[in-house]
Amino acid sequence: MTSATPTTLSGIQPSGLQHLGNYFGAIRQHVASQSTPGEHFFFIADYHALTTIHDAETLRGHVRDLAATYLALGLDPNRAVFFRQSDVPEVTELTWLLSTVTGMGLLERAHSYKDKTAKGIKPSVGLFTYPILMAADILAYDSTVVPVGKDQVQHVEMAQDMATHFNSRFGEVFTRPEARIPDRADMAKVPGLDGQKMSKSYGNHLWIFEEGKKLKKAIGRIATDSRPPEEPKDPSTVALFDFLALFLDAGELDEWKERVRAGGEGAPGYGHLKVRLVEAMDAHFAEPRERRRALLDDPAELDRILSRGAERARERAAAVRDRAYRACGLR
Ligand code: ADP
Ligand code: TRP
Repeated sequence: MTSATPTTLSGIQPSGLQHLGNYFGAIRQHVASQSTPGEHFFFIADYHALTTIHDAETLRGHVRDLAATYLALGLDPNRAVFFRQSDVPEVTELTWLLSTVTGMGLLERAHSYKDKTAKGIKPSVGLFTYPILMAADILAYDSTVVPVGKDQVQHVEMAQDMATHFNSRFGEVFTRPEARIPDRADMAKVPGLDGQKMSKSYGNHLWIFEEGKKLKKAIGRIATDSRPPEEPKDPSTVALFDFLALFLDAGELDEWKERVRAGGEGAPGYGHLKVRLVEAMDAHFAEPRERRRALLDDPAELDRILSRGAERARERAAAVRDRAYRACGLR
């Protein structure tokens, strides 16, 4: 199957508050893509979250928070179909069909599965077959473009493999998707406060909506050294610039770098750069913070938006499910 207009789809797990890595690596490009031609589907991967979250109230809270976060950061439910994964039962129907064309070896090679088991997590069958559910998410809407962070590219390639295997067995049913990663390398892999990749599981994250004293304290944790402000420095050795680059325009960024490189009297110290970073984050997220608060105060509105999205998503997924069922003899 090929479609004339692009269909963009991506999902994000409701695994807790979202950090700057999630924003620059995923959410921001999802929101930007809704202004490009074609159709757009974005969903909250609550089935996937069940592989790690085992408390009902926690999961419900995370889903609400993620919905409010996306909408506050600019996702427009009139331009993109925005929904909860578990509201589309066709996805689990397709998961079974895809599992019958997927070799055990393919799943055994999944980096994220290997990483989790290496960390000592005792795997459930659900964790093992996670890439099949993800492939069903992608293939259920005839998606052509899947914007994801680098760590998810292998899963999109697995969806390609499953589409190819199914199509070669039963005829042209599924559209082959392509992964798209952020074109700026610093956004595809945002560093954490300690310089490693930012991740909830490393405890080196900065929440998107952190503010006030807590924000200052978190930025205070960004790794620096004891060189004095007047000592000339190569800006690439100053971790703070990795963060400033995410928020400042190129002209202002270059000016700061130049002053740090030159050193001498009046050169900015690390404290100075941290103050500028707090200001830049405050300016960038001021309006979204307010919108998020308002949305969290109105859970019924969040539910309405997600239910309307689910209706539209199901229309598409049912058509693809019917096509797949017919092709393999289930109708
Ligand atoms: P975490 O590592 O904090 O648990 P997730 O694995 O839930 O984050 O990632 C959710 C989304 O955010 C994915 O699309 C992922 O690629 C992206 N992402 C996560 N961390 C980063 C990062 N440091 N830089 C860029 N993108 C990231
Ligand atoms: N596995 C993705 C993550 O952890 C979330 C996800 C689930 C997804 N289904 C998807 C992403 C389909 C893209 C397409 O970030």
